[in-house]
Amino acid sequence: MQTKIEKIDSSSALAIKIIEPQEVDDLDFLSFREKLSYANISHPEKRMEWATARMAIKDALETLHVPYPGFFKDEHGKSHSMNGNGYVSLSHTEGLAGAIYHRDSPVGIDMDFVREKILKIGFRFLDPSELDFLEKDPVHYTLAWSAKESIFKCQGRRGVSFRDNILLEPFAPGDSLIKAKIRNTDFSNHHYEVQARVFPDTVLTYTIW
Ligand SMILES: CC(C)(COP(=O)(O)OP(=O)(O)OC[C@H]1O[C@@H](n2cnc3c(N)ncnc32)[C@H](O)[C@@H]1OP(=O)(O)O)[C@@H](O)C(=O)NCCC(=O)NCCS
Repeated sequence: MQTKIEKIDSSSALAIKIIEPQEVDDLDFLSFREKLSYANISHPEKRMEWATARMAIKDALETLHVPYPGFFKDEHGKSHSMNGNGYVSLSHTEGLAGAIYHRDSPVGIDMDFVREKILKIGFRFLDPSELDFLEKDPVHYTLAWSAKESIFKCQGRRGVSFRDNILLEPFAPGDSLIKAKIRNTDFSNHHYEVQARVFPDTVLTYTIW
């Protein structure tokens, strides 16, 4: 299975994997609770995505010499480690699944396939000031969407609006850093720095609290 692993620093790492069918043995590392969750996913492709994302976490953890603790989801859908150590975030998109782990800080990761149609739904997730600086370019819009997804996952709570609560500073399509803040929530004025990468047809972003 093809994997790209990146050790960000001594506390954090991410891994991206191509989604492929797994052998049963590939998933032996999952906790009992995770094996139950896996067995309850009825759609075969969803099951593959879910499992590949957990294999990506395992790869990121191995880079940091951290044993796989097993993860559970809270009421918002955010994953937490079973032993209470560290922070994780997951994403899947067309053909790829990825995960980021940090020993001490909440993290968020997102991957999105670039689609032309995102230009038509900008008004739903963008503030007027963001619509002003974004070029009518699907990559630029997807970067904005993905940065907001990463921030959303990092903070973890449902009810945070992409358009009203997450505000991006102007950035160019080629920038590798997107600055943003959360406003009008309990975490008002928390500032985020989102790392951004563009592969030909897929955008990857991640942020560390
Ligand atoms: C839940 C949500 C974050 C999932 O993102 P997505 O791009 O559809 O899918 P991804 O594959 O990138 O991410 C899925 C992962 O997000 C994680 N996730 C779900 N809810 C989460 C939350 N509240 N916090 C952190 N992570 C969360 C899960 O780990 C999930 O993976 P899993 O099912 O394998 O465990 C997203 O759909 C969402 O609800 N966003 C906020 C709603 C919103 O404001 N939308 C825009 C309005 S225009």
